[in-house]
Order: sequence, then C-alpha cells, then structure tokens
Amino acid sequence: MDQHGHGGGHEHGHGHEWDDRYGEEPMWSGRPNEGLVREVSGMPPGTVLDVGCGEGADALWLAQQGWRVTGLDVSGRALARAADAASAAGVSIEWRHHGLEDLPSDATYDLVSLFYPALLRGDGSIVATLLGAVAPGGTLLAVHHAYVDRERAAEHGFDPDDYVGHDDLVAAVTAAGWTVEQVAEVERAPVEGPGAHHHTDQVLRARRG
Ligand SMILES: C[S@@+](CC[C@H](N)C(=O)[O-])C[C@H]1O[C@@H](n2cnc3c(N)ncnc32)[C@H](O)[C@@H]1O
Repeated sequence: MDQHGHGGGHEHGHGHEWDDRYGEEPMWSGRPNEGLVREVSGMPPGTVLDVGCGEGADALWLAQQGWRVTGLDVSGRALARAADAASAAGVSIEWRHHGLEDLPSDATYDLVSLFYPALLRGDGSIVATLLGAVAPGGTLLAVHHAYVDRERAAEHGFDPDDYVGHDDLVAAVTAAGWTVEQVAEVERAPVEGPGAHHHTDQVLRARRG
C-alpha cells in the first residue's frame, strides 16, 4: 500500500478471503474491461470511483484517459499489485483499502464504476452507499455477469443470491428516479483467467438526476 492507503473495518473481514483468492500470482489479465472502454470512452473525464478495483487495470486505463481515479478494494494484495502497475505506468491513483460499506458518506464522484462486483447484500444498506457515492448529475456504471451457473457457484462455496445483483441496482436507481440510460445484455470477447467461462455482461448505466 502507498501513502494513500486507508485502513478500514471490512479489510479485516472478507478482505482476507479475497487476499487468499488473489494468491501469489496475478489473477486478472491486466487489461481493462471491454465494457468499461466501450461505455466510458465518450464521457468527459472527471472524478471516478472504481469499486472492487482488484488489480487495477480499469483504474489505470481511466487515469490514462484523464480521469481522477480512486480505486477501492478489500484486498490489500490486489491493491499492492494495482499500485505497482500504476507506478510503473507513471500515473497517480488514490487507493482505498476497505469495503464499500466504509466509504465516507461525503465522498462523491462523477462516475462510479463497478465491474463484476462481489458485494455481499448484508442488511441491504450497501446499495444506498453505492448510490450515495454518485454525485448529482453523475453516472453509475455497473456490469455483472449474466447467466451465473448456480451449480458451479455452489461448488465454489457461494450463493449468488447473497450478493448485490444487476436487478437490485436497476430497481434501486429506478426507485430513486434516476435516468436509466442503458440496461442491456452484451456479449463480451473471450478473456483469460478465472472469469473465462462468463460470456455475457449485464450492463446498467444510470445518471443521477
Ligand atoms: C470479481 S472481482 C472483480 C475485480 C475487477 N473489478 C475486475 O473487473 O477485474 C471482485 C472484487 O471486489 C472486491 N470486493 C469484495 N467485496 C468488496 C467490498 N465489500 N467492497 C469493495 N470491494 C470488494 C474483491 O476483493 C475483488 O477484487
């Protein structure tokens, strides 16, 4: 972690589980998500929060497009890799080492981006925290995997229903009166690594009125 690392309660919760999952070798490809490049390329840069930024490929790409980037993740191991990649590329990114649950309520961003999030529902307040992180007039871009294989998930010891899903977010932005700019299923190009069996994205882009 660099000097921008912030401690937080949830890093001691499932952060350790995610550290274990990240293991000793890079987990992801190091390339930005296709959906991020497609959706964000036309937007004027501003401030952005990458929720669950992992090893930082999206955060790095955003910074290279002129965005002022904050990358947030519970895994210190992933963040250390992200920080190394950012320094190697010579870009400056603020890293926050804690769960979204612990984001200060006054922290707001022009864009809040979350790709393939693994946010436990808990008492449900995390969805309000997520929406609260979007500045008035700002955008929420959330991309989930479509058609999650429940049997495979069970074999890996998790239940998709325990996590905040695409439908939850569509319902929340609709209830909050935001402008839903896109709700779509989009095929994605094959990727390597643990996400390789996912072929379809569920995309939500909504603007806070
Ligand atoms: C499936 S990975 C996706 C990583 C990255 N966004 C990508 O597209 O490659 C989910 C990420 O969410 C992080 N995470 C899990 N729970 C979190 C929470 N409560 N708040 C923030 N990040 C969390 C994990 O450590 C992991 O890096």
